[in-house]
Amino acid sequence: MGIYVGAKVYLIHEGYQGLVDGGDNIKLAHWHSVTDIIQLGGTVIGSARCKDFQTREGRIAAAFNLVKKGITNLCVCGGDGSLTGANIFRSEWSGLLDELVQKGRIRDTDAKQYNKLNIVGLVGSIDNDFCGTDMTIGADSALHRIMEIVDAIMTTANSHQRTFVLEVMGRHCGYLALVSALASGADWLFIPEAPPLEGWENRMCARLERSRNKGSRLNIIIVAEGAIDSNGKPISSADIKDLVVKRLGYDTRVTVLGHVQRGGTPSAFDRILVSCPWFFTHDSRGLLNGCFSNLTAFNS
Ligand code: F6P
Repeated sequence: MGIYVGAKVYLIHEGYQGLVDGGDNIKLAHWHSVTDIIQLGGTVIGSARCKDFQTREGRIAAAFNLVKKGITNLCVCGGDGSLTGANIFRSEWSGLLDELVQKGRIRDTDAKQYNKLNIVGLVGSIDNDFCGTDMTIGADSALHRIMEIVDAIMTTANSHQRTFVLEVMGRHCGYLALVSALASGADWLFIPEAPPLEGWENRMCARLERSRNKGSRLNIIIVAEGAIDSNGKPISSADIKDLVVKRLGYDTRVTVLGHVQRGGTPSAFDRILVSCPWFFTHDSRGLLNGCFSNLTAFNS
């Protein structure tokens, strides 16, 4: 979009590490840099959990690299760490430039010319855990992946009359667990935001039994990785399995989905969300009209 509107766009490779290290990590973007990537998951410019950027020294180096290139507008795509880092960087910006001037690394005139850092945050996280944002980038793709796996598991669960405990990602946020449980018709769900009331063990087992007595050949229990009980104690998938086996004697298996949820090809929704967000703009009647009004831009 930056190139389309005529801006000079740089790609910063390896996340904040690339910003701190500078050099070849900051590359001018061309159309070919973003051609034929829409179908790829993850990021083609790399990502890193960067310890250096958490230090002021690291942020000084990053500010220096940006001023050298004349970059004062940053688009940061990431989750909690990336966006918290961006906010700290923005709030410290003028102080960082002052320090660079004092150290003689940039001129006073540079500090004046580049005295504002504008940041746009794009929430990239499968957790869908950002308030004010309907869907974070990646959440829909992760849901698709989870649903495929739940469906596949149901085949074997049904054949063997088994109970499956499926653990999905979400340390602090149960969105993926909640939506996949609703969409698969699961028997029980554990999420960090809604710890079950005391005595949940009896209620859950009664529910599983009821569903078997009604003729179901399987049970599905979905648990978010950060699930806790009302005392804040973690509820693990292994604990749930042991409970079901002990109380009901059902043949039970645990499947931890892990990082497969964060990989693979993106869904159509996510592809459009990241490349043409205007598609999702609504008019005053709530109609999705962005796509129609922008067809001209698309066709040109
Ligand atoms: O924040 C996204 C997330 O996928 C969480 O749901 C999960 O707990 C975490 O990342 C896993 O992080 P890592 O890749 O460091 O194991």
